[in-house]
Amino acid sequence: MGRLDGKTAIVTGASSGIGAATARMLAAEGARVVGGARRVARLETQVALELDVRDPESCERFVDAAGPADVLVNAAGLALGRYPVDQSTEEDERTVFETNVNGLVRMTRLVLQRSLREPGHIVNMGSIAGRWAYPNGSSYVTSKFAVRGFTRALREDLLGRDIRVTTVDAGLVETEFSKVRFKGDEAQAKAVYEGTRPLTADDVADCILFAVTRPLHVVVDEVVVMSIDQSSGARINRRT
Ligand SMILES: NC(=O)c1ccc[n+]([C@@H]2O[C@H](COP(=O)([O-])OP(=O)(O)OC[C@H]3O[C@@H](n4cnc5c(N)ncnc54)[C@H](OP(=O)(O)O)[C@@H]3O)[C@@H](O)[C@H]2O)c1
Repeated sequence: MGRLDGKTAIVTGASSGIGAATARMLAAEGARVVGGARRVARLETQVALELDVRDPESCERFVDAAGPADVLVNAAGLALGRYPVDQSTEEDERTVFETNVNGLVRMTRLVLQRSLREPGHIVNMGSIAGRWAYPNGSSYVTSKFAVRGFTRALREDLLGRDIRVTTVDAGLVETEFSKVRFKGDEAQAKAVYEGTRPLTADDVADCILFAVTRPLHVVVDEVVVMSIDQSSGARINRRT
């Protein structure tokens, strides 16, 4: 008997990292998992559907094809570049805001409007970047502060309904995140985690699993989870 038998969970960004690990853990507890991402061939979920969260039509198609759901995990997201604001570009800012903010808000709204059953649960992947600014990451930091604001607003709007809302704000997690941020530069990506013991995608998925398997009256409102080698957004201890 799994703790999520009979439940359907939608996981965005399920083709890699935290989303993929979460999809695996929810499925192991008996959930029917509908995974979404642009790289549909990489999805290993029971139901695998193409999804570009930046595209309203793609989101609508995805939500309708996924059908009724009990859990939504908004894990799709990315950062681009590490540079001061005056070296940022219109294109990078647009991609980050459209993915992390508009995409997450849109997916949440559509699932609420069309398919979330009650009791339901919405889990947003925030970041400690939504709590502490760090240098040279302005568009990502801005987007994650926005995710935190949206999560708070969602809690207010859903009060009185049997829909739980959780944000999981993680620090350094070793996934493909840095590879994407540095546009495929493996050396730069590796350097981010050098000399540290970063979180794994499974560590974060475990937090999500904990939140969604509590009794209905228990809302795990905010989870902040970091490596032992990190104390805040910009403070990282390297053993090298
Ligand atoms: N790694 C960290 O240190 C860290 C820390 C705190 C929070 N987070 C957050 O955790 C979430 C997952 O990141 P991760 O570390 O697991 O990185 P990852 O391994 O790069 O995974 C990112 C996922 O997001 C998906 N995605 C990106 N753009 C998308 C789009 N337009 N439409 C649909 N899916 C899209 C990717 O799928 P496709 O490319 O196939 O579309 C991929 O599945 C993000 O929100 C990130 O901000 C990460």
